[in-house]
Amino acid sequence: MLVTGGNRNTGLDIVEKFVREGAKVFMCGLSDESTAKGMEVLKARSLECVVSQMCDISDANQVAALFDTIERESGRLDILVNNAANQGIGHGGPLEMDAARFHEVFNVNVIGAFQVTQMACNRFFMKQESRGCVVFLSSNTARRAIRKRTAYCASKGAINSMVRALALDLAPLGIRVNCCAPGYINTERWDVLDPKIAARRRLNCPLRKEASGSDIANVVAFLASDDSANMTGEIVTCDAGCSCQHMPEDVDF
Ligand SMILES: NC(=O)c1ccc[n+]([C@@H]2O[C@H](COP(=O)([O-])OP(=O)(O)OC[C@H]3O[C@@H](n4cnc5c(N)ncnc54)[C@H](OP(=O)(O)O)[C@@H]3O)[C@@H](O)[C@H]2O)c1
Repeated sequence: MLVTGGNRNTGLDIVEKFVREGAKVFMCGLSDESTAKGMEVLKARSLECVVSQMCDISDANQVAALFDTIERESGRLDILVNNAANQGIGHGGPLEMDAARFHEVFNVNVIGAFQVTQMACNRFFMKQESRGCVVFLSSNTARRAIRKRTAYCASKGAINSMVRALALDLAPLGIRVNCCAPGYINTERWDVLDPKIAARRRLNCPLRKEASGSDIANVVAFLASDDSANMTGEIVTCDAGCSCQHMPEDVDF
């Protein structure tokens, strides 16, 4: 299997989940440094069965080189997890943001994920009897926007639409395409979060807790397994109930 952005945070937890289940996992990060760091963490957890490569998924040549490695090292691919994301943080509000930043976010989150998916299908899934499946990571912000993240929210909405469109076209070919839409996930960014903000975020969640990376990995594993064999084009939200509420409890009078 391949996990894009598998070198840290949620992607790394997805890698760990699949390695523990016996998969041979390929992962990529944006830079050599971060990819090597991810390998060190996996090694420290005694998870060796991983091949990593630096790959900017918005660059078709780098994606092709990554697939050459998978071809050489494994000769097949059964699962693709499109996890890598440009978070689009710090671009300012919609009136001042530079359109080039908007392109950067879409080039990774939408077009990059599309070209990885297309290559996985053409180079592997379509040549294999058991065709394989794709799991995307979008976000609950596709439906419930957050401030000053216009490009990110729009890209996650585009992913949801793309998942449904790909699912329709690929279903007759035996390829399933589904998506996990997380809410808050506890990543390394929570380590430096003001405890008051962390507590306030938890108060936003009906279940009173953010997801762990392994909560998300469990949903991804379900969507990649035969347990979800009759599902395609689905967006499965995993956000501690945030999306089902109108207002957090403390302002819901
Ligand atoms: N964290 C949350 O609260 C949250 C909430 C909702 C949805 N999500 C979604 O869940 C997924 C994982 O989130 P996360 O917070 O764990 O992500 P993250 O910490 O921001 O990590 C992003 C990963 O994507 C990689 N990446 C970025 N640009 C890339 C590119 N051009 N080519 C290849 N890889 C690239 C990064 O590599 P480098 O390490 O090399 O930079 C990193 O491994 C993302 O799709 C995110 O949008 C997250």
